[in-house]
Amino acid sequence: MTATSATSTTAATPLVREHFPVTKRWTYLNHAGICPLPQPAVEAMHRHATEVSLDGEFSYAAHAAEIERIRAASGRLMGVPSTDVAFVKNTTTGLGMIANGLEWAAGDRIVVPDLEFPSTLYPWLALADRGVVVDRVQPEGDSGKLTVEAFVARINAGPAPKLVVTSWVQFGRGWRVDLAELGRVCREAGALLCVDVIQALGVIPAELDSWGVDFAMADGHKWLLGPEGCGVLYVRGSKLDLLRPLEPGWNSVVHREEWDNLDLVFDDTARRLEGGMPNVTGIAALGASIDLLLAAGVPAIWSHVDRLCELACTRLTAIGATVLSDRSAAGRSGIVSVQIDGEPIPLLAEKLRAEGIAVSARGRAADLAARIQHRAGHRAVGRRDCRVDPRLTTRLSGRCVPPSTGRETLPARAIRPGRRAGIRRAAASG
Ligand SMILES: Cc1ncc(COP(=O)(O)O)c(C=O)c1O
Repeated sequence: MTATSATSTTAATPLVREHFPVTKRWTYLNHAGICPLPQPAVEAMHRHATEVSLDGEFSYAAHAAEIERIRAASGRLMGVPSTDVAFVKNTTTGLGMIANGLEWAAGDRIVVPDLEFPSTLYPWLALADRGVVVDRVQPEGDSGKLTVEAFVARINAGPAPKLVVTSWVQFGRGWRVDLAELGRVCREAGALLCVDVIQALGVIPAELDSWGVDFAMADGHKWLLGPEGCGVLYVRGSKLDLLRPLEPGWNSVVHREEWDNLDLVFDDTARRLEGGMPNVTGIAALGASIDLLLAAGVPAIWSHVDRLCELACTRLTAIGATVLSDRSAAGRSGIVSVQIDGEPIPLLAEKLRAEGIAVSARGRAADLAARIQHRAGHRAVGRRDCRVDPRLTTRLSGRCVPPSTGRETLPARAIRPGRRAGIRRAAASG
């Protein structure tokens, strides 16, 4: 299915419901974990694999041209030139290319939020053996709010950092960092800015180039609606030479496919970082998904998701849940972190799953205990103080509404404490 046909269907949602088989089974609120693939992405994968099965190498030229088209589309989605985009295995690979590609000296400083996703923190901690100092910015309270002022305070707390790193949207509570403002601060401080954009790219409009972001990366498997293990990396053109290509190969050089020319002359685009054969089939699927996003328009998708999140917060609050995420306009995202008093959070996620609702049990708030709030009219659950890991909370993130009617609600029945049927382990990732 092409992007053109994707837009031709009349739909109440910016993305066409029929493209999402997941809506036949689930109220899917876990795009912050693993997104369900839309049908056009599945078809693109199948088409590519079939072409390779029928024609082998003869299919390559067309696929290589397709990759360049998708590179340009990815650049549009990120608000960057296509020459600054490389395809990578996943977000972690992209972060590693920055961490290990930059040159470090003992005493260089990196500023990064505390309570980040592990992959957004480990690459910098792993530089300790080179004498690199990692300074962490503390989020505010339970909401995980990270103001630019907090970054500024940390930046100014020592010698000018070489690099500032952050997730655009924090994976736990969903706080969205103001990248335009942080970019300005980093430019003034003479620091490079590296942003893990996996929890926002595809659902929140991006202008990474004009915001002053130098490096950014995202795998496909969240808000990009792409497959797992196929992502994009942005490297600002003027910063490309700061990075040592970690896997130089035939695809890194300006004269690629001139097999007799062994001069090592790196390509002057981000493609030099790709090294060898890209994940052609994965990129085809990612491209089909990005086509859907661009055709629908990310601003329209964002206002739809934002509205659904607000609705979820209103309804959940009405039944006694606590919304932990900071929902101010400046920092809210597609992730809503919620706590319901009275029951272990993983069990709650499993109950929701049994009701056909996908959420994830995530987040860190060491002082929080999970209990279900008994609500008038609902059968009380036997009181159980939670001895479960109190860092866990339920996280909602999704662009889908319930499948049958398209009504934009979170069914309150799903959160009733009395139902115990069919409890299974909830799927978990990210
Ligand atoms: C902020 C953030 N970064 C990265 C990842 C995933 O990294 P990768 O694409 O390497 O699996 C996640 C997944 O939850 C995430 O939330």
